[in-house]
Amino acid sequence: MLRPKTCFLLSNVTRLVRRFSTSKWNRSEELNVHRDSADNNCSTPFEFTEANMLRLAAIIQNYPEGAQRSAVGAAMDIVQRQIGWIPISAMHKVAELLQMPRMRVYEWATFYTMNKRHFRGKFHVKVCVTTPCMLRGSDIILGAVEEATCCCAGSLSNDGMFGVDIVQCQGACANAPVLVVNDDYYEDLNVCDVHNIIQTLRCGGIPPFGPQNGRYSCEPCGGPTCLCENPPPPGFGLQPALYGPC
Ligand code: FES
Repeated sequence: MLRPKTCFLLSNVTRLVRRFSTSKWNRSEELNVHRDSADNNCSTPFEFTEANMLRLAAIIQNYPEGAQRSAVGAAMDIVQRQIGWIPISAMHKVAELLQMPRMRVYEWATFYTMNKRHFRGKFHVKVCVTTPCMLRGSDIILGAVEEATCCCAGSLSNDGMFGVDIVQCQGACANAPVLVVNDDYYEDLNVCDVHNIIQTLRCGGIPPFGPQNGRYSCEPCGGPTCLCENPPPPGFGLQPALYGPC
């Protein structure tokens, strides 16, 4: 196992040689392959809590008789919110409740990257490295995240508090660079913001999410540059002949 310092050096080297046309290495194979381990096997204890069973039952009722399997996504999300990740025993439980083949649940679990097949920490930090974020410095943001969390991309911090992952576009490109912590988006980041966010999380706080540079949403930083005047009245630009009788 690489020591953190070695790891940072290696990731810095990777950062230096990365070309525009080169994708970041992504550990996506982790998503697809299951190997039994001590904490993730068919005997790993998993039961829905009573409140989550009620929640799931209400969701299943939204679907017609015979189509309960359509609730598989919601069921997996409930599992993940309950224990933070999805062990294979929970997949089997979902298959049993929704009366669907286990393979169909595996397919769902391995298709979407939002499904966590391993425990990814109390705070799962996902750093977007797709082109708009890359052009806005996502590699530097990733380095800052690794430094602040003492955790390399693809691994878990020693205290289990942070898991860092590289992800592709999170759909907030107008606010690049972007990182996502659990369900919250942090946008328009710089290195200082990253350290503040991680430090606040470490101390038990919830940093304000959204743009970190003062923007409300994705409006231009320097104020609006177009559509600044009142819009023209109805009929603007029509030929006089089309106005009709006055
Ligand atoms: Fe990063 Fe779209 S490229 S959010």
